[in-house]
Amino acid sequence: MIKKFNIIFFFVLFSFVSFLENDWDWDKIDPSNMNFPKNFLWGSATCEYQNSGAQNCPNNNWATWENAFDENGKSRIKNAQKSKKSTDHYNLYKEEIYLMKNLGLNSYRFSIEWSLIEPEEGKFDNEAIEHYKNLIDELIKNGITPMITLHHFTTPNWFHEKGSFEKEENIDYFVRFSSFVFNQFSNKVNLWCTINEPAIYSFVGYVLGRFPPGEVDLQKAGDVLKNLLIAHTKVYEKLKSLPNGQNSKIGIVHNILKFEPYNSWNPIESIPCSYLSDITSNAVVEFFKTGYFNFYIPLKAYTTYENFDPKLDFVGLNYYSHPLLKMQISYSEPLYSSCYEGQEMSDYTFRLYPEGLYRAIEEISAFNVPIYITENGIPDNNDTKRSVFINRYLYALSKAIEDGFDVRGYFYWTLVDNFEWNEGFLVKFGLYDVDFDTQQRTLKPGALAYKKIIDDWKKKNTK
Ligand code: GCO
Repeated sequence: MIKKFNIIFFFVLFSFVSFLENDWDWDKIDPSNMNFPKNFLWGSATCEYQNSGAQNCPNNNWATWENAFDENGKSRIKNAQKSKKSTDHYNLYKEEIYLMKNLGLNSYRFSIEWSLIEPEEGKFDNEAIEHYKNLIDELIKNGITPMITLHHFTTPNWFHEKGSFEKEENIDYFVRFSSFVFNQFSNKVNLWCTINEPAIYSFVGYVLGRFPPGEVDLQKAGDVLKNLLIAHTKVYEKLKSLPNGQNSKIGIVHNILKFEPYNSWNPIESIPCSYLSDITSNAVVEFFKTGYFNFYIPLKAYTTYENFDPKLDFVGLNYYSHPLLKMQISYSEPLYSSCYEGQEMSDYTFRLYPEGLYRAIEEISAFNVPIYITENGIPDNNDTKRSVFINRYLYALSKAIEDGFDVRGYFYWTLVDNFEWNEGFLVKFGLYDVDFDTQQRTLKPGALAYKKIIDDWKKKNTK
């Protein structure tokens, strides 16, 4: 009896202490007290398809997906929205570079759309190459350092039809495309992200079934994730062997997305959280830390693949939140995303949790390479929480740097409101608001917090 009591006592104490450790008292913190290194990159991040839409990128699997229906005849996108030309980034990039400068940004992370460069298998499109060349030149002319993402969720239809990353033998197509792009632009671009959020791609496409191909199949999810990690490694090795390869910095982008139980003593909350965290985040961290790939499938054994030799020059950390899951009586949604008293929710599924950025940096530092925050932002349709979000998350980042973590840049997600995948245009992350009829952009007041932090940093560094 006494033993049992002791165990419970220590468990409760442990939960309480870890709660205290993880949450900062924002009443006692002055978020304006921030310092960033001299050569820090200040940017925003975008993705070609989200910003240019199906009209500008007609040959990718998302253009097909947004016109498809599920088994109940319903659109795959909320309110049956279509991306159309979204923010028409493809054509309006010069105006957008002006918007970046207006905020004081000195870097820009964007994706090169594979289906534009290689619309048909083995056929490379000169117009698209010219377009990206012009974009890169325009950025450099304006003092903005480009960072390229080679794969950001979309694939050309022809690649999708071949079975995409479900098949290991398809990886070579991606290596060929990556080498092609690298040969075109590596004389001007130094920072290369191979793949954006491999675990989210596999989770949302093959576990939740909300991204193409819309399946619920854990085995495939594991295979796709493993193949994406192998693809990263192969691309890394290939690009390093090309001219400019040794001078270029090549990394992967990982989202630290860890679910936490609202009540750590409640197994109905804690067991799903730990499983979800394993497949959305931990599997990738473990791969880069140890070279082992583990993907647990309930009622089966661990799927373990050995002998990988993962390589990286840097890691891109995407971080939004540690979602807090709470139990409720509901058949369709027994766990929902919540927050503790005193915390706030964003418009989407996560709580504001700046201290989580510090924890995510701490965790990803185990990769032992420099870190860039390649995405961080808030869905906030009325722009009421954006400035608090920016101040607090950047305070957490500044504290991490002060404590010795090697973070070299920060890219806010995203420059202008855009097409948020299956959520359509309903979720607004942008620093600028867009009128989609006129393509008129308007700076949101909340974005001024970002501008001020950059201005202060500039003042300190030009003294
Ligand atoms: C991701 C993607 C972005 C999203 C952003 C907001 O992290 O899912 O990189 O394409 O739009 O994260 O959800």
